[in-house]
Amino acid sequence: MNTKLATIVTGGGRGIGRAIAKRMASLTPVLVVGRTQSDLESVCKEITALGGTADFIVGDVSDPATATAAVAQLAAAGLSVGNLVCNAGIGTSGAAHTMDQKAWKDMFAVNVDGAMWFIQACLPQMIERKSGSICVISSVAGVKGFKYQTAYCATKHALVGMARAIALEVAKQNIQVVPICPSFVESEMTDRTIAGLVKHRGISAAEARTIVENTNPQKRIIPAEEVAELVATVCQGLVKSLNGQPLMMTGGE
Ligand SMILES: NC(=O)c1ccc[n+]([C@@H]2O[C@H](COP(=O)([O-])OP(=O)(O)OC[C@H]3O[C@@H](n4cnc5c(N)ncnc54)[C@H](OP(=O)(O)O)[C@@H]3O)[C@@H](O)[C@H]2O)c1
Repeated sequence: MNTKLATIVTGGGRGIGRAIAKRMASLTPVLVVGRTQSDLESVCKEITALGGTADFIVGDVSDPATATAAVAQLAAAGLSVGNLVCNAGIGTSGAAHTMDQKAWKDMFAVNVDGAMWFIQACLPQMIERKSGSICVISSVAGVKGFKYQTAYCATKHALVGMARAIALEVAKQNIQVVPICPSFVESEMTDRTIAGLVKHRGISAAEARTIVENTNPQKRIIPAEEVAELVATVCQGLVKSLNGQPLMMTGGE
């Protein structure tokens, strides 16, 4: 087995995943996964300019073949998966009784199945090597309910449960599986939430942003780099007892 370790970041082309890819590239070579080739090329270019090593694979995480191909691409480059960051995710809102069934299934396919296929593809190498870190980007919606977010909350709760269960399975093999649960983070996903508030409440973008900021006791939207820093801490194995613990990034409860 290859002994040089790399990090896979799903949804690494933009938003939180892009910040994670850039931070992890200071520690290991990185492979970013997503559907938009131009975003992936751009983050790889940025990482290379900073002196890091990065490659990409275009694919949909809901297809198990994407995960298998990602691991094979690393192996072909002489790399083994040291860290996996399951970050790719989607979210739409709406009243539970009007939830479109296809949108419900799509959210589970990307958020839950997508993470599971990547964990399944990466774990065998980690188990054989007896080392590895898996960060699962859940959400504060993975531990709390939010109205009009039924599907998103259900998928994010599922990720916390999945991470906790696998964490127990692999604890003795020196592998940590950590669900990370941020509240609003600066990204296009949050921009869409702000745009939704503007549309539905007839308020200005500044007012909508303040509403979002006020959901955090620190009155701010978390920079994506802060999530990346937590992921880097977990992946460096500095605090091993975090295994299986949902890490809340909410600025206070
Ligand atoms: N923003 C927040 O406030 C916040 C808070 C807590 C947790 N989160 C979670 O953090 C993660 C990243 O969110 P973000 O805010 O950075 O969102 P974003 O800006 O919308 O980015 C989502 C990323 O996921 C990728 N992706 C989506 N569907 C995919 C698919 N089927 N296959 C492969 N990649 C896919 C996207 O790339 P392509 O579209 O190119 O595929 C993109 O890179 C998500 O899991 C989200 O639920 C976000």
